[in-house]
Amino acid sequence: MTDDELTALEIKLLMEGVAQVYGYDFREYAEASLNRRLIQWLSGSGFATISLAQSQLLRDRTLFDSLLRGITVNVSEMFRDPTFFKAVRDHVAPHLKTYPFVKIWHAGCATGEEAYSMAILLNEEGLKGRFRIYATDINEEVLRKAQEGIYQLQEMQHYTRNYQLAGGTGSFSDYYTARYDHAIFDASLRENIVFAAHNLAVDADFGEMNLILCRNVMIYFKQPLKERVLGLFDSSLVPGGFLCLGTKESLYQRKISDRYESILPRMQIYRKRYA
Ligand SMILES: C[S@@+](CC[C@H](N)C(=O)[O-])C[C@H]1O[C@@H](n2cnc3c(N)ncnc32)[C@H](O)[C@@H]1O
Repeated sequence: MTDDELTALEIKLLMEGVAQVYGYDFREYAEASLNRRLIQWLSGSGFATISLAQSQLLRDRTLFDSLLRGITVNVSEMFRDPTFFKAVRDHVAPHLKTYPFVKIWHAGCATGEEAYSMAILLNEEGLKGRFRIYATDINEEVLRKAQEGIYQLQEMQHYTRNYQLAGGTGSFSDYYTARYDHAIFDASLRENIVFAAHNLAVDADFGEMNLILCRNVMIYFKQPLKERVLGLFDSSLVPGGFLCLGTKESLYQRKISDRYESILPRMQIYRKRYA
């Protein structure tokens, strides 16, 4: 066995243990990116091999949390892919407006930028007080950051540009207060957002959603886990509800694809058929 093969085996064994001890199931994550991130974590951990780290990882929750931070990719931004948010504003929001109240699930919300962006968009589209956003992630540390709604001030120029390209109708700076090098987002945006831990690999569905967004999350999953997650979304969406995926993800050749229509070419926004 080569060194690389041995490391891959050690990672597989560790992931079995992690699933049993902590209930975090990474066995269905795409190996190339998972292994790369684990090896990166190992190099800063002080352990020479995965096997040497294993016994402590399975006993020490704090050490495991540092591994979890290393495994999950948490990058996000406000109005990420502005053309996507513009499409939601122009083609999804008009349907949402026809309901008295709408429920939205951001699965894999990371540090919350996407959920705050959606709250801003829906407020501007006249849905203020008529929606609740459930923003979930496997990683509780990023959820704590999301709950705070405090981001780097230096990002605001870029986010302002995204907001404008996404069809923002106000002034982006009205949504935050600058303090030193931070931008503190308006607490009123959070009133309609519930941040909660949810693991797409093992947890159950959420009922009666009108819109589900899961962007840049499933790219890290193997095919069976992608199917599981899409099944969760399908059972959580009302007929006529919308499903939004990331630019590198699609419903092409998925089990649920027959029940959905793509509402815009080249945009991963799907609508669940009524029958
Ligand atoms: C790259 S971020 C995407 C953030 C946001 N959706 C966006 O597109 O900007 C991927 C997120 O998926 C989360 N994630 C990974 N595996 C997950 C799982 N099994 N269940 C829930 N969230 C998961 C990670 O913790 C991370 O925060």
